[in-house]
Amino acid sequence: MLQHPGFVLWFTGLSGSGKTTLAVAVEQAMRTRTMRVERLDGDTVRQSLTRDLGFSKEDRDKNIERVTFVAKLLSRNNVAVLAAFISPYRAMRQVIRQETTNYIEVFVDAPLEVCASRDVKGLYAKALAGQIPNFTGVNDPYEAPEAPDLHIRTDQEPVDQSVQRILTWLEQRGLTPPLRND
Ligand code: ADX
Repeated sequence: MLQHPGFVLWFTGLSGSGKTTLAVAVEQAMRTRTMRVERLDGDTVRQSLTRDLGFSKEDRDKNIERVTFVAKLLSRNNVAVLAAFISPYRAMRQVIRQETTNYIEVFVDAPLEVCASRDVKGLYAKALAGQIPNFTGVNDPYEAPEAPDLHIRTDQEPVDQSVQRILTWLEQRGLTPPLRND
């Protein structure tokens, strides 16, 4: 098991921007390096820990607040936390930065049109037809990060290249040991 400090790699971005895809690929790469990893994802966390919550600003803040609590416990015990949530509000992301150990903001960025055309879950079609209230990017705000630690343009870079860039960034800061070939 490789020695490394705890940190929180926080993926923020629109629905369909590629947060889950990227977090899954980074998790896989970290497991190959035998790192201690835990992945938290809006789609699954909202079926358990925060299943009572909706998508009003108040509920989104509560969602992130609870996840932040878990990320805080894990990161202070040297776990690499990968968190994928829209987390649209800047003020809330500031809270995560304050509460957790080594918070790293990853802006998973793709134009709204690209996310809407991917429409993996069919939610954009419904939102654009006015069937979903408070849908991020359509009729609810997304406050893009102004100074993310990492900015990933998923419409311009293949996933494996993004993963490589993230791991190199972490390596350079001593958050993950380099892969050794001996
Ligand atoms: S967050 O805003 O509270 O951070 P979170 O990432 O947990 O959101 O959940 C977002 C997921 O919930 C989306 O990927 C989508 O599948 C689903 N969803 C359902 N309704 C909405 C909505 N109104 N706005 C955004 N996402 C929604």
